[in-house]
Amino acid sequence: MLNKVIIGNQKMNLTASQTRKFINAFVPMVEHLNCDIAICVPYTNLAVCKRALKDTNVAFGAQNVSEFEKGAYTGEINSEMLADIGCKLTLVGHSERRKYFSEHNSEINSKIKQNLKYNITSVLCIGESKRERTAGQTRNVICKQLDECLSGLYENELENIVVAYEPIWAIGTGQTATGKQIEEAVNIIREEIARLYTDKASKNIVVLYGGSVKPDNVKNFINIKNLNGFLVGGVSLDAKAFSELIQIYVGKPVKK
Ligand code: 13P
Repeated sequence: MLNKVIIGNQKMNLTASQTRKFINAFVPMVEHLNCDIAICVPYTNLAVCKRALKDTNVAFGAQNVSEFEKGAYTGEINSEMLADIGCKLTLVGHSERRKYFSEHNSEINSKIKQNLKYNITSVLCIGESKRERTAGQTRNVICKQLDECLSGLYENELENIVVAYEPIWAIGTGQTATGKQIEEAVNIIREEIARLYTDKASKNIVVLYGGSVKPDNVKNFINIKNLNGFLVGGVSLDAKAFSELIQIYVGKPVKK
């Protein structure tokens, strides 16, 4: 991966035809930018992405994957199916899945292991709630999530892991973490990876921030040390705003 990474999490919003329109508007605005760009879409939109993003610099992925290999799991989608349709990545452990679908770290760990079998990058979302932050639990929460979600993984497998620090209180709230809070969390993540693996692994792992990142605040986060990019929710639904955010991040003049 390049140093600069931007991933859009479009959540449960666009239909397949809306996704096609989004891609048609979005790709021309970002095609020359020096940044790894991906969008994570609902399963029903993956086929559209496969066609419309062919030969472009925008990758696509899913927002979830089954923890199971194959078989009688009605309604599930496995890593093999995602790989076959061209997914390079999937989100795992997003806080909305933890909250509404009771996902736990052990399940997320199984999802990551399934993805590894099919060479799919897992974008592992972690982060504390407001209550946990106020109680001074941020470090413990982040480290526990990393320890349990990465349990049993070998160092070389971290090449297929991206860690997204998404404090729950900053998601969809318009309340971003401060640069200092993000830098502290990124340092905690890298320290924990160094403790679990090696300094080399800690240096190399890709770490993103997500939570109310917008074109008008992204410049506040550009210089955060050891941060590789952003996981963007709401803004990634709007081709113009999302491309603007990426242009600002990579330091290009914004094309209006
Ligand atoms: P918002 O950018 O809408 O706050 O969402 C962040 C997010 O949940 C990305 O996964």
